[in-house]
Amino acid sequence: MSSLVDSFSRRIDYMRISVTDRCDLRCIYCASRFEAYSHDDILRYEEIYRVVQSAASLGVTKIRLTGGEPLVRLYLSNLVRMLAGVPGIEEISMTTNGTLLARYAEELKSAGLKRVNVSLDSLKPGRFFEITGGNKLADVLAGIAASNRVGLQPVKINMVVLKGINEDEIIDFARKTLTDGWHVRYIEHMPFENSTSQGNGLVSTAEIMTRIEEKLGKLVPHKPEAGNGPARYYKLPGANGTLGFIGAVTECFCAGCNRFRLTADGKLRPCLLDDDEIDIKEPLRRGATTEELAQLIQSAASLKRAQHHLNEGDIPAGRSMRQIGG
Ligand code: 5AD
Ligand code: SF4
Repeated sequence: MSSLVDSFSRRIDYMRISVTDRCDLRCIYCASRFEAYSHDDILRYEEIYRVVQSAASLGVTKIRLTGGEPLVRLYLSNLVRMLAGVPGIEEISMTTNGTLLARYAEELKSAGLKRVNVSLDSLKPGRFFEITGGNKLADVLAGIAASNRVGLQPVKINMVVLKGINEDEIIDFARKTLTDGWHVRYIEHMPFENSTSQGNGLVSTAEIMTRIEEKLGKLVPHKPEAGNGPARYYKLPGANGTLGFIGAVTECFCAGCNRFRLTADGKLRPCLLDDDEIDIKEPLRRGATTEELAQLIQSAASLKRAQHHLNEGDIPAGRSMRQIGG
């Protein structure tokens, strides 16, 4: 098997696939000013399958499904089952807002999904509504419980820390690692141009860690499970759960980057934070071979830059998070 390597010798084995730009929530840091794509703009499951086949032939082993909200796309477990059958694909995971998880956890698990990351920024119903525009905290909590019950584990809870909005809940989330064995990850808020939360200022990873240590004691470094994702992991003494920190703004983790993205409308995206894209939908629809698709994927990998420039205020303007797929 050949392998996918970018211009900086980074081995690319991880593909994030946005299956829809639609979502049943409207988070303040994400809500888009763009129109939703029409049905025909979006890759069909068979088309996603072909791209993944081709990526797998280049050594991609891990897939993550994202959105928008992936579970608003009908029959998502059919896609999971299709992708789980692609030779070379070892792990399929999903990033979800959790609102529909209780309904689908079991069928996703039996279709071959390994685990889920659930985005959750508040444990207070009123605050949850202010951030997401939805009255769905109870659904999300039920979704987390259902995922644990059926073994979509480890469930990781992603909290975007928003200055002046939910920063007072940093400790409440950390306590969940002690009381409920949650795996919590704190994500620095990236100030995308088209989000309504832009300009509030940043609560940095360093600050989040200090606040947790002041209240709950020393954070003990914890070896992450396999993989080289962007998070650094710790544990509180006596906790079953872990605490992860994703310094999306203040810490550049690009050197270890192992991933690229496929957008819902069929563009290969070398980097989340870079507006470069390569269209793969048109070649797919005019009947490109698996080898031609592989060449496109290889050229997308070659477009990957050394690193992003978020901390210098360079913000990608072209798309919202909802369209790129977190
Ligand atoms: N900054 C940081 N994280 C974000 N996400 C969405 N928009 C932003 C942003 N501006 C997160 C979601 C979810 C994942 C898909 O990306 O909360 O955890
Ligand atoms: Fe939906 Fe996720 Fe965007 Fe919130 S952050 S609106 S849950 S896609």
